[in-house]
Amino acid sequence: MDALQQAMASAAVDVETVLQQVLVSEDEPERRLLDSMRYAALGGGKRLRPFLVLESARQFNVSRKSALRTAAAVELVHCYSLVHDDLPAMDDDDLRRGKPTVHKAFDEATAILAGDALLTLAFQVLANDATHSNPDVRCELVLELARAGGAHGMVGGQMIDLAAAERDMDIGEITRLQRLKTGALIAFSCEAGAILGRAAEPAREALRGFAHDLGLAFQIVDDLLDVEGSTEETGKAVGKDAAHGKATFVSILGPERARAQARMLADQAVSHLAIFDEKADFLRDVARFVVERRN
Ligand code: IPE
Ligand code: IPE
Ligand code: MG
Ligand code: MG
Ligand code: MG
Repeated sequence: MDALQQAMASAAVDVETVLQQVLVSEDEPERRLLDSMRYAALGGGKRLRPFLVLESARQFNVSRKSALRTAAAVELVHCYSLVHDDLPAMDDDDLRRGKPTVHKAFDEATAILAGDALLTLAFQVLANDATHSNPDVRCELVLELARAGGAHGMVGGQMIDLAAAERDMDIGEITRLQRLKTGALIAFSCEAGAILGRAAEPAREALRGFAHDLGLAFQIVDDLLDVEGSTEETGKAVGKDAAHGKATFVSILGPERARAQARMLADQAVSHLAIFDEKADFLRDVARFVVERRN
């Protein structure tokens, strides 16, 4: 295992602990809801967004506890987005993170509620004073996560994504779609460390630039894996985008140019980090991981 993989694995373990703490089991009748939330959020995924929060926070010497709670909040929003993305009314997927999707393992109504409650819980975690002693910092985290997750962020992107199966889109429209549906939450993850650390504008700007390119590269590779990847590696069904006639970078550019584009964006992402020293090396490495990943 290389140093990045080790750091990502150890971040995943630490975030899992916080998620376990905030997703405590309940007595009936809510037990089923909590069980479905735990099923959706625990024990799976690459935990890329939490890692980005932790690594951006480390640039500004933020306490590990603050960073971990913020990382857990982003992952809760991400997990909710996956639960709803997989619903029959959306992508209608049966497999996620190598196991049946929440609506398959439980039922559709429970999956909708699990998503709702994961989303709400994320804001409860951020607003709690255990996340940061300064209420201005907590408020800014809440504001920015709401922006990233909402109608002008992830959910807005999901709406445009539905249209991508219905009509042709050009590369400009697809870029906007991807930046919203995937880029916005990745951007929040990178900027969260700067918010927690009350970083100066140049550092924030650098992280924003990094995240902007990284988020797009990440989604291009997700689309590539849908064409070139396997269910064994990705833990989800493949070939879905083409089956639904969905416009993606890959459907427009073809796999080779799409991969070249992702690599170019990853290099560009790294170039934004020039103002940081070697402490930012894992952020640099993660940009390479994002384009070379197989899952
Ligand atoms: C999948 O995200 C959904 C997209 C936004 C492309 P990830 O590939 O990060 O999924 P997990 O968290 O590792 O399962
Ligand atoms: C989902 O994009 C992005 C979200 C906001 C959840 P996809 O639909 O391509 O993600 P996968 O391929 O199902 O993970
Ligand atoms: Mg989708
Ligand atoms: Mg999907
Ligand atoms: Mg996909």
